Amino acid sequence: MKFFIDTANLDDIKEAYDLGVLDGVTTNPSLMAKEGITGEANIKAHYKAICDIVDDNVSAEVISTEYEAMVKEGRELAKIDDKIVVKIPMIKDGVKAIKTFSDEGIRTNCTLIFNAGQAILAAKAGASFISPFLGRLDDIGANGLDLIEQIVQIYDNYEFETEILAASVRHTTHLIQCAEAGADVVTCPLKVITGLLKHPLTDSGLAQFLADYAKGNK
Ligand code: G3P
Repeated sequence: MKFFIDTANLDDIKEAYDLGVLDGVTTNPSLMAKEGITGEANIKAHYKAICDIVDDNVSAEVISTEYEAMVKEGRELAKIDDKIVVKIPMIKDGVKAIKTFSDEGIRTNCTLIFNAGQAILAAKAGASFISPFLGRLDDIGANGLDLIEQIVQIYDNYEFETEILAASVRHTTHLIQCAEAGADVVTCPLKVITGLLKHPLTDSGLAQFLADYAKGNK
């Protein structure tokens, strides 16, 4: 299972990378705006800065929504670094662009996946990753985890090579449920990754061990 961090914050990316468990980064235009990164040149420079921290798999999202423009923009993004994965929204022109990139050997992450039909279409087009958004389905009273399980089953049936990148993962329970369901990748904020460290019995057990050591080694 791969861990990606879902942020454009360089400090958070460095902290997750230093933990030694990070396999990649996902960003989107909202996350870039949150860090105050605006303008094409600044955005490209920021993607490069992210690529310089991690070993691979940096999703960079296109803004265009028409085929020709998406292909042009995606090719430009891919030139930033070999670690770039071009992120494309699940729309008709996006599916066509994914097929073009797949033929050209440019990796893609098809984003904004909310049902199994979209997941099938993206895999048929040759997406490297698909991003089903768990939390946002939960937000509207649907069950995001059911979708992950459904896609895992379908991709297994046909041995699709597209990796299931569970996104909009909001808490550690989401992450563990994705692992149980067989998602290939989860992407989440730093606090979800570091949240995996925590258990009160770990803290109290360690405090007891250290206290007992101190007593015997005065
Ligand atoms: O990777 C997708 C993610 O950024 C969406 O997360 O929490 O805004 O639904 P969220």
